[in-house]
Amino acid sequence: MPTTPPDLSHYIGNADEFPILRACDFFNHAGVSPLPKRAGDALRAFADQYERRAYLESGFYRQVEDLRRSAARMIGASAEEIAFVKNTSEGIATVAAGLDWRAGDRIVTTAVEYPANMYPWMDVARRYNVELIAVPEEARPDGSRFVPIDKIIAAADHWRTRLVALSHVEYASGQRHDFPTIGRFCRDRQILFCVDAIQSMGVLPIDVRAMNIDFLSADGHKWLLGPEGAGVFFCRRELLPTLRPLSVGWMNVINDQDYGDYDFTLKPDARRFECGTHNMPGLLALKASLELLLGIGVDAVAARLKTLTDRATAGLREKGYQVISPRDAEAWSGIVSFVSPTHDHKTIWRDLRMTHNTELALREGRLRISAHLYNTEEQIDHLIAHLPGH
Ligand SMILES: Cc1ncc(COP(=O)(O)O)c(C=O)c1O
Repeated sequence: MPTTPPDLSHYIGNADEFPILRACDFFNHAGVSPLPKRAGDALRAFADQYERRAYLESGFYRQVEDLRRSAARMIGASAEEIAFVKNTSEGIATVAAGLDWRAGDRIVTTAVEYPANMYPWMDVARRYNVELIAVPEEARPDGSRFVPIDKIIAAADHWRTRLVALSHVEYASGQRHDFPTIGRFCRDRQILFCVDAIQSMGVLPIDVRAMNIDFLSADGHKWLLGPEGAGVFFCRRELLPTLRPLSVGWMNVINDQDYGDYDFTLKPDARRFECGTHNMPGLLALKASLELLLGIGVDAVAARLKTLTDRATAGLREKGYQVISPRDAEAWSGIVSFVSPTHDHKTIWRDLRMTHNTELALREGRLRISAHLYNTEEQIDHLIAHLPGH
């Protein structure tokens, strides 16, 4: 059956869909994203409804279940495997606190994880005398920074390894890890594979089955274009009974509407990890944003990001900056981190914000550009033009 290619042109530079375009050139989607108009509308509709009619005929509870299905579809999961969490950290902490650790178990991660994917494992290591191995980043001949997959696999290739914990995309380098290979390795050895997907979900393809992912966590406030404090957690169906909920309240159980009849039997699906009332406004806004991306198609969004990041990378190199982010076909992402051999990064960052109305980020001594699908080529060109030359 012929399929029509998704029409991205409607969104590019469209300030009616992305009002931030009227305010500034925004390149920090790897930090905290602006809301698209339709997500803002969802928040306004929530406020309006609750002000006038409370929950009556709102349909909001049904919409939350629609979001569960959409989120599952985005990562190749089924709705029964999706729980809503308040952030990425909560999903990762659910895994860290929910497994039965034994002294001497090994956890493998990298030494360049965002702390949301480090402290939960440090806590496990300290509490249960578990060994935590953090594989360091290396400099490659082209100047990019990279944690080699063979080093991760070598560290995990041990009979005591219980879990590998990785970001799909590293927040400071932008490296995308080779998940098909790592996931296959883990599954073959019955090692659990736990993923922080906040730097990729929505804009880079994720298939939890093909990648053999066991657990995945992502808040909505970056590439998914949602508000802060509303995220998703995936737990592979077969593992649901083995993971203790992080917190237990009235909603984790099968008869959660039967308030007076206490039957402490956890739900069979991932809703067993939800302890109480949802962040309804947050989830409604996340639904609007996530379904916008799903409607376009994650592959098409990824192709758009490739165009924009290639353009930024070429411009940076031409002006004498060193690009830290790997740009290989398997490892590129929406993050372009770079350094100047001579100029002060903080001064560059401040001048861009104060003088040129351009927003990017400073992370780990690097400048970081993270454009989204609606940013224009002209915005990238202006950004490059405003950077000091060498
Ligand atoms: C890789 C990564 N994980 C997690 C987070 C944020 O975690 P949370 O959603 O718990 O606030 C960030 C934010 O910068 C991040 O870059």
